[in-house]
Amino acid sequence: MNREKRSGMPEWQALKNHAQKINGLHLCELFAADPIRGSRFAAEGAGIYLDYSRNQITSETMELLQALARACRLGKEIARLFAGEKINETENRPVLHWALRDFSGLPVMVDGQDVMPRVRQVRERMAAAAGRIRARGWLGCSGKPLSHVVNLGIGGSDLGPRMAYKALRFYAQRDLHFHFVSNLDPGHLAETLRPLPPEETLFIIASKTFTTQETMANAAAARSWLMEHYQDPIALRAHFAAVTANPAAAHDFGIAAENIFEFWEWVGGRYSLLSAVGLPLMMAVGPERFEELRRGFWEMDSHFRDAAFTANLPVLLALLGIWQAGFMGRSTHAVLPYDQYLERFPAYLQQLEMESNGKDVDRNGEEVDYPTGPVLWGEPGTNGQHAFYQLLHQGTPAVSCDFIGLRRSLNPFRDHHEQLLANMIAQGQALAFGRDREELEREGVPATQLPFRVFSGNRPSNTILADELNPSTLGRLIALYEHKVFVQGVIWNIFSFDQWGVELGKKLANRILPRLKGQAAPGSDEDSSTRALIDYVSAVKREQ
Ligand code: F6P
Repeated sequence: MNREKRSGMPEWQALKNHAQKINGLHLCELFAADPIRGSRFAAEGAGIYLDYSRNQITSETMELLQALARACRLGKEIARLFAGEKINETENRPVLHWALRDFSGLPVMVDGQDVMPRVRQVRERMAAAAGRIRARGWLGCSGKPLSHVVNLGIGGSDLGPRMAYKALRFYAQRDLHFHFVSNLDPGHLAETLRPLPPEETLFIIASKTFTTQETMANAAAARSWLMEHYQDPIALRAHFAAVTANPAAAHDFGIAAENIFEFWEWVGGRYSLLSAVGLPLMMAVGPERFEELRRGFWEMDSHFRDAAFTANLPVLLALLGIWQAGFMGRSTHAVLPYDQYLERFPAYLQQLEMESNGKDVDRNGEEVDYPTGPVLWGEPGTNGQHAFYQLLHQGTPAVSCDFIGLRRSLNPFRDHHEQLLANMIAQGQALAFGRDREELEREGVPATQLPFRVFSGNRPSNTILADELNPSTLGRLIALYEHKVFVQGVIWNIFSFDQWGVELGKKLANRILPRLKGQAAPGSDEDSSTRALIDYVSAVKREQ
């Protein structure tokens, strides 16, 4: 494994020097100089098309980036991932989310044991549970079929199933209703439960650790809500299920053994959609569609493992991201799906990318001296066009974008879809080429307005296209970004599979809570801002 300080590597330095040259070039010039640039800088793999020609790059840029990838021994690192090595070093765990969609039939060993039989067994149990609820055969305590499923989870135990449920809504069984409650804000649970009939409601507590404050608080409140109706803990048996790597805690909570669906330490929370965390999704779309989703992931995994780096979509996306963030100064990255079903995809990617690569210390424990994971954000197009695209086109922050589009729509109103795609392609075009003064003058724009109506252009974007949004496409898209994150972690020399940065806030909240409740005096180390905020909040509480 190569842990050499990245910024000291000759390949890194070569890119730095090269960036100075590229910085003076405009995309207009690059396209004018090469009539087939739009297809030269494009690649297709696992049914996904990537146009990356609208980045400030030349063939030399791509060669230098590839050289950096080779110098970081990316090929070896990919092999270590798929060999099940303990690459999550700070937690001493292998990283095996790929095993959840492995169709090879080969064993996957963890500490001398093949984990695949257990993986298949849990999936079969999930399929049985999904089949039962879909056939309206999962009955509540009063004998009524359960028709509302409330997932209680946060982070990876919420974002994946919530995003995928929305994305695959077209395929969902319509007489079942799915709700996702994540926030500690009582409003989230209360507003969700208000219209729900307890006799028809199933709660799924999704938590890898089964200790997460938000989820445990919501689970306890949901249990009380059910008990208000039934006054008998036996009701928990029919109305609660758990998805967790800590089955003992789920059992102690009161969940029946047959409703506990296990997953494992070697599945990271943000990579857990295909584990039992996908149970509500499987209930919604059915085990066959879930299988198609898994196949989609597997197809992108196979492409990632086998394709040459020059045609490897996750590698290309990762290298372009490194180029934009590290060498061209783009510190935020917008993901703009032109598909309403993908509404939650940017939020899902926020955890995937920012929790994985939002790190400022390298694998040697030294502070990095180059930018790592950028801020990721986004909204579906065309909505975003009428909100924040002004800044994308004429603002000062440097943003890179991924446009995501589907060639076919699943729905009627076909010409909406053509308009939608026309907008998507046009936005990337406007960002890249802008609009200069001469053109405006030719159009007779008054001189006083010229400065405000010029678009400087030269703003980078990738365009990612697939045929239609089906489970397989969704799987391929998610795996594309998962592997992009992995490649970037290797090249930035950071550990992508831990998340120590989330710990401090949790610890401090536990110290502040007794202060808010008036059960603790301020410690001598309490800063004046924290004290003032606690006093301000507590003053209102006393008035209530
Ligand atoms: O605090 C961050 C985090 O640990 C995420 O990584 C994880 O997805 C989320 O909390 C939820 O954790 P759990 O599934 O254990 O409740």
